[in-house]
Amino acid sequence: MHHPGDGFYVVITGANSGLGLGIGCRLIDEFLQTRPLSESLVLIITTRDRRKGDATIVQLKKHLAEACRRSEKTLPRSSPLNERRVQFRNEILDLTSLISVQELSKRLRDTTPKLDVVICNAGIGGWEDMYWGRAVWSILTDWRNAVTWPTFKKSRVGWLTKPQIPNSEQGKKVEEPALGRVFCANLFGHYLLGHYLGPLLERRNASSSTRGRLIWVSSVEAYAHTFDINDMQGLASTAPYESTKRQTDLMGITSVLPSTAPLVNQYLDRPKDADDFTKPRIYVAHPGICGTGIFPMNFVFDFLMLFAFYMARWMGSPWHPVTAYKGAVAMVWLALAKQSLLDTMEAQEGVGKWGSATDWWGRERVERTEVEGWGWGGKLGESTRRKGRSPYAKALTEESRREFVETGRKCWEEMERLRVEWEGKLEQAGVGVRME
Ligand SMILES: NC(=O)c1ccc[n+]([C@@H]2O[C@H](COP(=O)([O-])OP(=O)(O)OC[C@H]3O[C@@H](n4cnc5c(N)ncnc54)[C@H](OP(=O)(O)O)[C@@H]3O)[C@@H](O)[C@H]2O)c1
Repeated sequence: MHHPGDGFYVVITGANSGLGLGIGCRLIDEFLQTRPLSESLVLIITTRDRRKGDATIVQLKKHLAEACRRSEKTLPRSSPLNERRVQFRNEILDLTSLISVQELSKRLRDTTPKLDVVICNAGIGGWEDMYWGRAVWSILTDWRNAVTWPTFKKSRVGWLTKPQIPNSEQGKKVEEPALGRVFCANLFGHYLLGHYLGPLLERRNASSSTRGRLIWVSSVEAYAHTFDINDMQGLASTAPYESTKRQTDLMGITSVLPSTAPLVNQYLDRPKDADDFTKPRIYVAHPGICGTGIFPMNFVFDFLMLFAFYMARWMGSPWHPVTAYKGAVAMVWLALAKQSLLDTMEAQEGVGKWGSATDWWGRERVERTEVEGWGWGGKLGESTRRKGRSPYAKALTEESRREFVETGRKCWEEMERLRVEWEGKLEQAGVGVRME
């Protein structure tokens, strides 16, 4: 007999296209292949409107049917059972609307017994054009690096979200501060979501064999120089996208350190008697580089982009999975891996950033990725003779590590301050959603 809490509950944001869809498909495949027949998957997908959500469910169901048909070959008559093992839920979320984040969170808290994994995938680039001359020149002279760590994307500067507080009928006028659009879509919206869903990720047992997991999606392009703690939202930045990804690395990795523990406990809304529970974990992943619609281009340039990505792989780049399905490998692995495996790997080599990589043939795997100021696992003296290092990478020093940890803590402080400030504003205006 199935108990409603027995399923494996996963939320994927931005599931309608690119990597989000790839993660959904791959998760279905790997779940069916690796978990016992008695376990079922509840896949909660979010998109920005009902139409996109419906279309996504249609695609995922089609993918499931094909996966089941394939499984018949090894396990005859397993198809109907396997199809029943995956259930879908269709939810709406606009990450640039804090009210939308609150509404979805409330709905999930009211209707879901628990969550196992939340994959914070949705995001925007905020780019408006390319520096074409630089693009052609850098690709022709330094192909592999130019399409891994490009220097030719032109970003819109100072892009803001729409006002968060609608003109209220009750006439309560509340001044609201500027909110950076790329910052809100990529980081702050997900940050709030994780805060409200924290209690669903908490395990009501101090020695649970798994932890609820928040998976933050970063990028290989998370350069330290693009992030300025004094302009955390990247409002004045010419690289707001990269800035959000750097902050994702800083906060995700430092989230397990003692220096941030009080802030992270507050963020995760942990119960007072927290010792009786198992704390959720934040993991940082990235998909390598994939040909998705995140940089909108026309048909011809899309084709050239894919060509450039495959060439980079054949020139030795490990960071070009190219297809979204392959790019999803790191996120799906983090979602399904045994807790004991993740814990052992971290105990041996430190906390890391987990990326999707491939070999020359395109066979995908998960690979630790270097982070400026942290290295691969936060350990001084790690070997730097690894593939896929950025041309700008510097060896880890005690000083750069200290700076990384300290900036991470400051980010946690600032993000908690910003969260509380916005919650207060929404409440004051009478539009905030109460979670209880
Ligand atoms: N593609 C790459 O090579 C690459 C590399 C590194 C990291 N990443 C990261 O991977 C993630 C997915 O990117 P992608 O390449 O798959 O891009 P994509 O195809 O453009 O997909 C982005 C998804 O996010 C959704 N989204 C955008 N703004 C949103 C908002 N305000 N609220 C809710 N959802 C929103 C989009 O919905 P709509 O369809 O409604 O716009 C779409 O579902 C991003 O975090 C990105 O930074 C991608």
